[in-house]
Amino acid sequence: MDTSRRSFLRSLAAAPLLAPATSCGPKSSSLSPVAPSPTPPSTALPLGQLAQAAGYLYGAAVDVTGIGDAGFAAAVGTECGLITAENSLKWAALRPAADRFDFTRGDMLLNFARARGLAFRGHTLVWHSSLPSWFSSTVNAGNAEQFLVEHITTVVRHYAGSMHSWDVVNEAVDPASGRADGLRNTPWLQMLGPRYLDLAFTTAAAADPDALLCYNEYGLELGSSAAKRDATLRLLSDLRGRGMPVHALGIQGHAGGSGWPQFDAGGFAAFLRDVGRLGLRILISELDVKDNNLPAAVSARDQAVAAIYRDYLAVALADPAVIAVITWGLSDKYTWIATSAPRTDGLAVRPLPLDASFARKPAWDAIAAAFDRKTSRAVRSAVSDRHVLNPATSGPGRPISARPSGGQSDRPAVLRNRDAPKADRPFRGRYR
Ligand code: G3I
Repeated sequence: MDTSRRSFLRSLAAAPLLAPATSCGPKSSSLSPVAPSPTPPSTALPLGQLAQAAGYLYGAAVDVTGIGDAGFAAAVGTECGLITAENSLKWAALRPAADRFDFTRGDMLLNFARARGLAFRGHTLVWHSSLPSWFSSTVNAGNAEQFLVEHITTVVRHYAGSMHSWDVVNEAVDPASGRADGLRNTPWLQMLGPRYLDLAFTTAAAADPDALLCYNEYGLELGSSAAKRDATLRLLSDLRGRGMPVHALGIQGHAGGSGWPQFDAGGFAAFLRDVGRLGLRILISELDVKDNNLPAAVSARDQAVAAIYRDYLAVALADPAVIAVITWGLSDKYTWIATSAPRTDGLAVRPLPLDASFARKPAWDAIAAAFDRKTSRAVRSAVSDRHVLNPATSGPGRPISARPSGGQSDRPAVLRNRDAPKADRPFRGRYR
């Protein structure tokens, strides 16, 4: 990034809403010194602030294990504008028994977010996985509706007013199930039929009318994903067509791995366009890059991972319906990929923007550059029309109570505009 634009961006960053960061990761010298990133970051501004300057949200999935790690907590506070509860708001974490709720871990993450002025995403209210051990022997066709409505109502009300968005239903589409509607044959479908999706979204909307309600899905980017893209689009079109309160699509974006050479940029771009035409916003909700089939050498592997982030975001950020990029983790120290897709050579995986010592990697640079490219245009329009950087005066959404009670952070409250963009009006960033 040329120095003139860098200094210009810093001046914007000096604006009350964007306190410039001077470094990445832990600030305190008491923590182990952060190894210098192999390639200097394209800007000193953290990802969350670069994203906001371009009219997006950047964040990461966080679990309670990570927030107890001071270095990781500092890195999240520096780099992110939002966190997603990686596991703490799933049934397995919330429901120790059929008649009990345990919000301990979810509340820890909300308080962590609030203390740092971060937006908070809930994941996920309805899924066929991460169900508690009592579920299959307790929930049946006769009581499934009562369990579903009670769960969503209780959980969403508990966090009402504090949530940027919810993944209401996760991974409901699976063309391999052989159904004409392409729905996955989950316990919820077996017990309630397709109407479980309507029930989930209408119940969530009733419990928190201001949360952005998302349908979340994976496996939509490859040449082999065409059937899943079609089925997902049909589902969303049906829900929206019947007036269901679905506001956004979460595209998980677990990239890389052996299938990645089939990345279908054209097909993915067309899919994003078709989703936007339904009047839906889009969040890239779980972006990371498996590296188990990439070279062992760290430098070459990091560059290859960065190239996949670059290619993915070149398509995603070209679409005006995309409002957020959320990586599924922030540091290689905490990633599901370490156990789900380990390398056969036993080397530590390196899928995320920060390494295990919370230093920025080429993947960080690739994400920063993707926002930089948008930032340049947005910043130009922001100068003439500062509401992009001054969310307090823009958009029909209302600030959520993410602003810390103790005023420990000057990050802006995060606005959400739950009225999806009109299909005929190009949507240009999340504050309009
Ligand atoms: O909390 C328990 C702990 O008490 C127990 O001692 C330990 C050992 O059994 O398990 C812990 O629960 C684990 C949980 O992560 C928290 O660490 C579960 O076994 C484990 O299955 C769970 O894995 C998560 C997985 O979803 C399944 O819920 C991953 O961390 C999480 O990254 C992954 O995330 C999913 C998204 O929710 C949906 N999209 C795909 C993505 C990757 O699979």
